[in-house]
Amino acid sequence: MIISPSVLSANFADLKTDIKKIEEGGASWLHYDVMDGHFVPNISFGYSILGDVRKVTDLFLDVHLMISDPKKYLNDFIKAGADLITFHYESCDDLDQVKSVITEIKNQGIKVGISIKPNTDVEAIKPVLADLDLVLVMSVEPGFGGQSFMPKAIDKIKTLRNWIDQGKMECLIEVDGGINEETGKQCKEAGADVLVAGSYIFKHENTKEAIESLK
Ligand code: DX5
Ligand code: ZN
Repeated sequence: MIISPSVLSANFADLKTDIKKIEEGGASWLHYDVMDGHFVPNISFGYSILGDVRKVTDLFLDVHLMISDPKKYLNDFIKAGADLITFHYESCDDLDQVKSVITEIKNQGIKVGISIKPNTDVEAIKPVLADLDLVLVMSVEPGFGGQSFMPKAIDKIKTLRNWIDQGKMECLIEVDGGINEETGKQCKEAGADVLVAGSYIFKHENTKEAIESLK
């Protein structure tokens, strides 16, 4: 299991210390939640802070764009050092737009993911699944850390696992929101490959133990 700690729950005034903690705790990815106050009702951080993060870590930078116009900012996040950019299916007008964002990200030589909100049916992204490196299943409404896991994510993970295995695709399944030892185990059993966890990891007194408990 790949663990991607979400720095949304880190101490931004001492971010480097928190990044070192998750590195030493055995995480290989870092989840970077970008919120624009429009697609979601919260504002977090943008690409210039990502550039600073890139300078202090070799962790795989897993960028989750919760923004209305992902295309406008792709190059900025890529230049800042993103290894993977995941954008929201719901931020696009139609499937053609989804496809053009996928192509644009891939053409820049980094990995691409699509995220679906809790009320979006997994069928919506089936036509592009073979083109993706990752699907991010939201198990809370995007916008805030510290919410409770929505169990309906489990069926989506199972469906995706089935399609990906049947089609012999490379796509990873990532789950984000309300992940702790118990819900992480349920996602693992359903077939997830990557777990995002923010408050569970950063509020735990022992970062390494928290990360280990999710693997
Ligand atoms: C929510 C974000 C999550 C968030 C998860 O919109 O996408 O990545 O940081 O936080 P927890 O793990 O606290 O639910
Ligand atoms: Zn996220």
